[in-house]
This record gives sequence, C-alpha cells and structure tokens, in this order.
Amino acid sequence: MRLAHSSKSSREQWSGKLGFILASIGSAVGLGSIWRFPFIAGENGGGAFVLIYLVCILLLGLPVLLSEIVLGRTALRNPVGTYRKLAPGTPWFLTGFIGMAATILILSFYSTVGGWTLAYAQKALTGSFSQIGINQAEAGFGSLIGSPLQPILWQAAFLILTAGICIFGLQKGIERTTKFLMPLLGVLLIILVVRSVTLPGAMEGIKFILYPDWSHVTLTTFFEALGMAFFSLSVGAGVMLTYGSYLSRKESIPSATGNIVVFSTLVSLAAGLAIFPAVFSLGYEPNTGPPLVFITLPAVFAQLPMGGVFAILFFLLLAVAALTSAISLLEVPLRYLEDEHSWSRKKSTFIVGGIIFFLGIFSTLSFNTLSGVQLIPGLPVFDSMDFIASNVLLPTSGLLTILFAGWKWGVAKLLRESRGDHEAGFPLETAWGFIIRWIAPVLILAVFAFQVISS
Ligand code: PHE
Repeated sequence: MRLAHSSKSSREQWSGKLGFILASIGSAVGLGSIWRFPFIAGENGGGAFVLIYLVCILLLGLPVLLSEIVLGRTALRNPVGTYRKLAPGTPWFLTGFIGMAATILILSFYSTVGGWTLAYAQKALTGSFSQIGINQAEAGFGSLIGSPLQPILWQAAFLILTAGICIFGLQKGIERTTKFLMPLLGVLLIILVVRSVTLPGAMEGIKFILYPDWSHVTLTTFFEALGMAFFSLSVGAGVMLTYGSYLSRKESIPSATGNIVVFSTLVSLAAGLAIFPAVFSLGYEPNTGPPLVFITLPAVFAQLPMGGVFAILFFLLLAVAALTSAISLLEVPLRYLEDEHSWSRKKSTFIVGGIIFFLGIFSTLSFNTLSGVQLIPGLPVFDSMDFIASNVLLPTSGLLTILFAGWKWGVAKLLRESRGDHEAGFPLETAWGFIIRWIAPVLILAVFAFQVISS
C-alpha cells in the first residue's frame, strides 16, 4: 500500500536531487562543524573523539536523519503537521513542537556567533589581523563581544541576511543560495586545507586529528560525541523533515542520506585539517575551547605568508557555513505557519525573524551586560540556550522521532516509503530496521540516563 498524498498543488519542490542534497549539506555544515567540532575534538582526545563521533553518526545520526526525511516526504507537511497527519488524534504532534522550539532557540544564539563571523569577515577584509599576536587577538575578541551594541548590530545583520533568503521561498531563496554557496565553501575549504597541511611541522596537527589518544576519553566524551552528532547533522529539530517534505518521490532517500552524511562528515574532518596543522605548526595550543577560531586563528594567520588572504577566506567560509544552516533553521517555523495557519511567507518571515532577534539579544548580551545572569544554575544565558536546545530538546525530539518511525508508524512502512517510486529495496534493510528499532533508541536513552546520573 502506498500512502495517499493530499499534497497542496502550490507546494514547492526542490528542482532536483542536487538541490536537496546541497541544501541539506548546507544545513548540516555550519558553526557546529567548523567552529564547535574542532575545539570539542581538541578537548576530548583528538582522533579518539573523532572515532566515537563517527560511530554516533552511523548508529544514531544516520537513522534519525533517514526517518525525518521519509516522514516529511510521506506527509508533505511541516514537523507538527506531519505527526498530525500520520498519527491523527494522538499526542505525537508534540514531537514536532519540541523540534520547532529547538530551531527557534538554536537560531537565537546561533545568530550571536553568526554575527561574530560577519564581524570577523569584515575585519579580515580590512586587514585588521595583519601583525597581531595572540594577546592582541584575545583583546580584539574581548572588545567585540564585550561591547553591548556592536555584536547586536552584527547579529541583526546576520538575521536580516537569513530572513532575506528565506523570504524568497524554496527554489528562489534557499535552493539558489545553497547551490551557489556550497561549491564556494568547498573550494575555500580545500585551499585552506592545502595551505595548512603543507606548513612545516603540520604533521603534529594531522596526527592530532587522526591519531586516537584514548587517555583523554571519559564518559563525558560519549555524551559530547552524541550531542555533536545530532547538532552537526541538523537532526532532531525537524529541519531535515521539512527539507524532506520538498523532495520528489522519484528520489531514493537512503542514497541521498548517504551523500549528506558522507559529505558533511568530510567537511568536519577537513575543517579540523584546515585548523590544527596550522595551530600546531605555529606552536599554539589545540585545546583553547570556543575561542580557538576567533582568537588563536587570527594570530595564526598573522604569522603566515599571505596570511591576510587566508584570514579572509576562512572567515568568509565560516560566515557562509553559518548562513546556510541558519536558513534551514528559520525554514521550520515558516513552513509550520504557512501549512497550519495559512500565513503568507512575508508575514511569517517578519514576525518569526523579529521574535528570534528579540530572544537572541539576550544571548549576545550574556557576554557583557547580562554576564551575571544565569538561566540554568552555573550557565549564562548563551550557554543555557545552547544546553536547553542542543542537549535537551534535540535529543528528546530525535528519540521521539525514531520511536515513532520504528514502533508507532512501523519500520516496514518507513523502509518502503524511503525508496520512493523505486520498487527495489536497498542493501542492508534488515540491519537498518534493527538499528532504528533497537540500537538507536537504546543508545540515546543510555546517554540521557548517564547525563541525569552524572549531573
Ligand atoms: N548543523 C548545524 C551546524 O552544524 C546546526 C543546526 C542544528 C542546524 C540543528 C539545523 C538544525 O552548525
């Protein structure tokens, strides 16, 4: 039996498989892969963390990603509407609301860092990084995030860019932008990797990211790797479900999912290879945490021949990566308001964009005026938002998604629908079914249990 589709004829679709895959990679590859992944790996044993992360991607990220895309394409709805349609009269639609809350919260603090990337791209373009040492780089970053107004203006600029793309809709906005920006991102990244790995002493950095040092691995490492896998694949928020709802039935989802995962993971690893060899080569520490990219790298670039050019390329890369993720986050609430409440795209873009900006101001101010305010004990506003969205909402809605797909809706239906119009099954279907029903939910629950016990 194939599920009947009551698609609204006006609903846009990707122009083809490439558009879908590029937009999805654009969503996955973002500040998570380029800014967060290197320092989390740096703090958790380098290559050892990378290996655990890859296992999490395969056993947890991939099944949730596949489930989200299939559910969206079957229902042709936003996350809330999808559950309402596939399980009418049940509370499963709350899964969609949890994911949507995550997108709004994530975009609110994501735009803080997105603003920094724009500020740094502009600084790099005007040559402000030439000749600076690590102390000046630190002072420069401190003065950017410490002044109340400047980062809010950059944050506003970042959100205006994001909304300015989304307002044009799927093909003319999201697809056109990602088709142009993702190849650019690929080229920038390759240039940076080649520069970094050919520096004298780069081998140390390559070893750091590829050679597993198990002595730094603790239980927390597993927890970090799971969170990173969810965040970096954009799963659990309903983003991939929404993108899947625009995918034609001609496309086979397992092969598209494979492409998305392979390319996104390669970009994360490449970001590590662009950063660590340069950091090691010039004698800096790999584990400086969040400031790695904003403090250590400008100092690294200042010492490289033609460093100014590489600084421009790097911060452009970061801004592009952040932007293509931000548009996917904004698309979820926009799609919801259009599908469920018939709002026009213009109205929803203005109102949702405004709400996110308002919320985001608190995250930005948490580095200066509001630095003493804690939403969760011990965590400033920015970190609290990140914790609630990335560590609580994303895994919760990811877990519910996979339970829905594997148990409530049924794994047989899920696998059949994933093939689209293709009749033939795909390799390892039984193994997929087992991972979706048993392994993924049990592992997510185990990590949750660990988090509760250890807190
Ligand atoms: N995957 C994005 C990144 O790595 C962030 C993101 C998370 C985007 C969840 C959408 C949904 O930066």
